[in-house]
Amino acid sequence: MAQIHLWLVAGAMLCSSPVSSLEDDLLWIHRGENLRVFNLLRQLQRTRPHLCLDDRNDFKFPWNGTTITQMQKTERTCLHHQMITHIVDLFRTQHSHDAWNHTLVSQLLSSLHHSLEHLEQREGENRDCSNLGILLRKYFQSIHNYLREKKYSACAWEVVRVEITLRVGIM
Ligand SMILES: *[C@@H]1O[C@H](CO)[C@@H](O)[C@H](O)[C@H]1NC(C)=O
Ligand SMILES: *[C@@H]1O[C@H](CO)[C@@H](O)[C@H](O)[C@H]1NC(C)=O
Repeated sequence: MAQIHLWLVAGAMLCSSPVSSLEDDLLWIHRGENLRVFNLLRQLQRTRPHLCLDDRNDFKFPWNGTTITQMQKTERTCLHHQMITHIVDLFRTQHSHDAWNHTLVSQLLSSLHHSLEHLEQREGENRDCSNLGILLRKYFQSIHNYLREKKYSACAWEVVRVEITLRVGIM
């Protein structure tokens, strides 16, 4: 089920609105990078999600696809930037390296850094999302707390992997 859901998200990412301007070209680069991150997160999977149903958890991501689409562009870019920074912090930990395939985690981190560079070019000085940043920090704090409580088990990481993959899918 989770897998099917992920494929639908990937499809939606590819089939979004047609492009016309330079702004849209940048958006396409952004989508391409997002898709690469999304696919690496998918490849990371080691445990079958259906074995981890008991570990499911609602991390209460504060937004959905609709509310993110309705954000102003600067706000959205800034949120995306912060989101990626948090994902880097999560996956560069020793616990993450213990849980996942090193090669894939390295590729993931390098893709994320690439996205950060592009986002920084797009943003310029325009970083306007401190309120959103507070909500996002809470969200990632609950992910870190969850992993700690679950003693960084394979299933706990799998639940977090699926969670992050879905969120990247709507950014
Ligand atoms: C997204 O969130 C908004 C605000 O919380 C809510 O009104 C809306 O129904 C949600 N949309 C979807 C598709 O879940
Ligand atoms: C890690 O992933 C790479 C790329 O998919 C693969 O070639 C390699 O065999 C994997 N290593 C382990 C230990 O599973």
